Amino acid sequence: MAEIAQDMTTRRVRHGSSIGQPLTRSEGPLKVTGQARFAADNLPPGTLHAALCVATIARGRVTHLDVAAAEAHPGVVAVMTPDNAPKLAQHPDEKTNPFCFRLDLLQDSAVRYANQPVAVVIARTLEAATEGARLLAPAYETEAPRIGLDAADPFTPPAIGVGQPPEEHHGDVEAGLSAAQSRIAATYETAAQYHNAMEPHAAVASWEGDRLTLHMPSQGMAIAQGRLAGLFGIRPQDIHIESPFLGGGFGSKGLIGGPQVLACMAARLVGRPVKLVATRPQMYGPMGHRAPTRQTLRLGTDADGRLTALDHHVLTASSTFDDFFEPSGGVSHTLYASPAISVRHEAVRLDTGTPLFMRAPGEASGSVALESAVDEMAIACGVDPLEFRLRNYAEVEPISGKPFSSKALRDCYAQGAERFGWAGRSKEPRQTRDADGLLVGWGMGTATFPALMFEAQARAEIRADGTGTVEIGAQDMGQGAWTALAQIAADGLGLDLDRLTFRMGSSDLPNAGIAGGSGHTATAGGAIHAAGQAVIGKLADLATNDPASPLYGAGNAGVIARDGRLIRRDDAERSERFEDILARAGHGAVEATGKASADPAAKQTYAMHAHGAVFAEVKVDPDLGQVRVTRLVGAFAAGRVINPRLVTSQYYGGMIWGVSFALHEHAAMDPRTGRFLNDNLGEYHVPVNADTPAMEAILVHEEDAHVNALGIKGVGEIGITGTAGAIANAVWHATGIRVREIPITLDRLL
Ligand code: MOS
Repeated sequence: MAEIAQDMTTRRVRHGSSIGQPLTRSEGPLKVTGQARFAADNLPPGTLHAALCVATIARGRVTHLDVAAAEAHPGVVAVMTPDNAPKLAQHPDEKTNPFCFRLDLLQDSAVRYANQPVAVVIARTLEAATEGARLLAPAYETEAPRIGLDAADPFTPPAIGVGQPPEEHHGDVEAGLSAAQSRIAATYETAAQYHNAMEPHAAVASWEGDRLTLHMPSQGMAIAQGRLAGLFGIRPQDIHIESPFLGGGFGSKGLIGGPQVLACMAARLVGRPVKLVATRPQMYGPMGHRAPTRQTLRLGTDADGRLTALDHHVLTASSTFDDFFEPSGGVSHTLYASPAISVRHEAVRLDTGTPLFMRAPGEASGSVALESAVDEMAIACGVDPLEFRLRNYAEVEPISGKPFSSKALRDCYAQGAERFGWAGRSKEPRQTRDADGLLVGWGMGTATFPALMFEAQARAEIRADGTGTVEIGAQDMGQGAWTALAQIAADGLGLDLDRLTFRMGSSDLPNAGIAGGSGHTATAGGAIHAAGQAVIGKLADLATNDPASPLYGAGNAGVIARDGRLIRRDDAERSERFEDILARAGHGAVEATGKASADPAAKQTYAMHAHGAVFAEVKVDPDLGQVRVTRLVGAFAAGRVINPRLVTSQYYGGMIWGVSFALHEHAAMDPRTGRFLNDNLGEYHVPVNADTPAMEAILVHEEDAHVNALGIKGVGEIGITGTAGAIANAVWHATGIRVREIPITLDRLL
């Protein structure tokens, strides 16, 4: 289990609170010096290498594998196929909870999507394993795949997990549209996208009897433990997962991937540790993706430019064997006030891998469509797009009617617009050229993301020497959890960071829930805070009940912890060091656990969302159609800021993914074969530095007394939302051309 020393030369914290300090990442030096150990860096003694053999068809079954040829390779140790794969305690298509996704684990010969694993070759070297997998040369019985949103009949999918229902309605949308003074109807399409975390899915698995040790990047170790326990018929506590660092997850590592389970099965088959790292193309299929969407929006407004109706219909895709869908319509029932709103999702079953949570699942794709439609509606009404959004500002959550726990969106609009210079925008499109003759356009979009909380536990301790330890099974995807959570831990115990040992990254530590839904800091941080409070409470009991203490009689609530001391609230001169309290009481340490989860009463009462406003400038080459984003200003309000440097980076990252959504990402499939045309980072485009504009992120002040104990809303995903729509709207403003197929490619502008 990992802990990271605090480098005090760059991380000196003023005494008092470490929450709010712009600390650099504690694990940064390890990463830039190559010392951070990612899952695939582990090589226990005797480890064998595994390679996947994946299907080159999208629908049908495997009729033959040349196992003899692979086994004849001198480096190959074993070939795992449906004939000899370990039988599982539970069929991988069995759903034991709403977040249990169906996996392909060599239990039969069926092929359900391209790149589905059909065999695993285990060898002494990676090269031998790879060559062995090639020698298997599968033969197939092939059926015509169903690819594309028109390839099957739509159905209404079940709600996702415990969240997003497929339909929500309020008021009479048709009546609202008929009564409208102006109306628009438009259909927007978004492309299939793949997570493409820099680090591929990997697993290094070893068994000792029925105990499994697994080095694996995971956004939720306890969830993975539960899934593996079910599949192998063993106890979750006998599964030990190490996941201190992830090279990105973006949702794809929220649930264990099929290939990672296959590594565990392979290790069991050969009785030795096995390392399996998916290749980049193998990440396209069995690891989830964002499904394509076709979204039809109908909006109507009265004479004052106020919405009379908002209808958002989403057609998206799921797989033939599971039900996840991209919940794009969610944005439409939280963002704008309208007396009538209808949100409806349908899906078609395609011969692809099952889609999964990916970088603001739903909000990212949905906000491109909604923010484009709102722009089109504003133009139809002759109202400035920002003014239009203010006229339709939701004072309460539109469908539920609940008040917001906090909502500083007006401040986001004002501060973002001011910084960007929005007031100087020309009303008509195609009015502005720069010195090089490029068309210049400005657009904006509203950002929104729910403030989610999951369940987590943490343990905290203060020792006789006045130092402390906090432990939680959290993980760092690259977002800075090692640092932000340690800041919360230090404050919770009233210690400076250099007096704190902070451990995370292992399933042996208390369950931190999932690092997803932008809820990790709130959830894990909440548990850490609660554990700190519990320890301080015990310490306060010792001191305030002891006549020898200067705190005697202050009462448990009458003291606070800071700088390694308990201090009387009513008299800061009267305080006592942790060491002295423990020494007099004769205790070596005090420890306690804490937990956090969503407060059902608060959820019942309030709508909880982070908000933001994103302003974009693009330049478009009128001859070539090439689009460049030249400037992005995002102003976001997401409750308490734990570390402004990290939060700013999260917003930058989100906005860059917004650029990616608007202009780059598109996983293309050949509809005849169901195979990918660009399953690699050379042809699946994501923004590089040259695509990344000048960016500013404004941290808008917002206090929230209801969302959770720390007032945190989460910042991981909101930057994507709003941004892609702002860019699409800026492209319209630059060119006068409304592109409704995302990503916006240059051929659409010629
Ligand atoms: Mo994210 S898609 O909530 O891991």
